[in-house]
Amino acid sequence: MVSDAKTLKIEAARAALGQVEDGMKLGIGTGSTAEEFVRLLAARVAEGLTVVGVPTSERTAALCRELSVPLSTLDETPELDLTIDGADEVGPDLTLIKGGGGALLREKIVAAASHCMLVIADESKLVDVLGRFPLPIEVNPFGLRATGIAIEKAASRLGLSGEMRTRMAGDEPFLTDGGHFIIDASFGRIPEPRALAEALNAIPGVVEHGLFIGLAGAAIIAGKDGVRTLGAGSRF
Ligand code: A5P
Repeated sequence: MVSDAKTLKIEAARAALGQVEDGMKLGIGTGSTAEEFVRLLAARVAEGLTVVGVPTSERTAALCRELSVPLSTLDETPELDLTIDGADEVGPDLTLIKGGGGALLREKIVAAASHCMLVIADESKLVDVLGRFPLPIEVNPFGLRATGIAIEKAASRLGLSGEMRTRMAGDEPFLTDGGHFIIDASFGRIPEPRALAEALNAIPGVVEHGLFIGLAGAAIIAGKDGVRTLGAGSRF
């Protein structure tokens, strides 16, 4: 019986590797679970597996380079077979909160460019209702306060409220790979994620948000009782 978080992440990553076929164009996620996947993938590449990966962050790109996983860009390879990525929360119908690592914009662009997005996570990420994890919202630095007020108002119209913090890296705001800021919004339970997603999308200063709806095709969840796949459609 496995239980510690790192072991569970490795188990989920290993199961996802079983879905990778020779010749695939892969989206490669960001975060500690995705990093376990990169390590396992690199071992298969060293044994002769031929894949090309589009990384969802500079951090993931650096790890892939270090481990000799062949990389491409989304401009060179705009359509991907499979993206494998972690999540901060996995809710009903494979709705997700992502962006705890600050890579949500590229993660969403890469997932949307993929035939299928496969989430890998340990069972602590499973929730009945999204929102326990603060929702990362990537915003343009220009007009930060105005955008924050607009987010508050949009949330309030949906009955949501809570602390909103600009993510910091030491004394400075955290900067995403795209040069944007992140507001972490602690709204608590988000019973209507699609409505919130649409409301946030309508705010000009919001670059993207961490609600992933209709993007994940399946999720491999590792828990103390084993590994299971949620939402497995025709592909898995
Ligand atoms: C990165 O921006 C995130 O979306 C990650 O995918 C998410 O935070 C999961 O990370 P862990 O695997 O480290 O929990």
